[in-house]
Amino acid sequence: MHLTRRQIITSAAGFAATMPIASYALSTPTIHVLKDPNCGCCGVWVDILRREGFHVTEERSLGTVLIGHKLDNGIPEAMISCHTGEIYGYMIEGHVPVADIRRLLEERPDAVGLAVPGMPYGSPGMGPEDEREAYDVFLIHRDGSTEVFTSYEAA
Ligand code: CU
Ligand code: CU
Repeated sequence: MHLTRRQIITSAAGFAATMPIASYALSTPTIHVLKDPNCGCCGVWVDILRREGFHVTEERSLGTVLIGHKLDNGIPEAMISCHTGEIYGYMIEGHVPVADIRRLLEERPDAVGLAVPGMPYGSPGMGPEDEREAYDVFLIHRDGSTEVFTSYEAA
């Protein structure tokens, strides 16, 4: 059986798109984080990512410039938190757990990214997990709608 030219191009593109992310997700995912350098909780979240094997680059940003960056990149106002990360084309807004970022990179949905709006107590970087309040991680769709990606119960 002959493959058509189109089939060859399509499968080659699929291969190229899948391979790099799959191997990065298993080894050293690289994330670029915009944050206020004076925000302690943002720093703790970045430390957690580094401990979990992420390569993190940091960029100073704050106030209306940082909020503009979020909105320009498809993060709805209701999803806003403190820091904003970008990883392989996905936005990571706020104190999103490492497990959810890894799952996003494995499942690779066609979406803007993930958000934990506000700064829920006990989310990564926001105090002890064993005193955690209930919170949700949301998947942000390209049309601005959101759905619950993971629900974390109160500890
Ligand atoms: Cu924070
Ligand atoms: Cu932060």
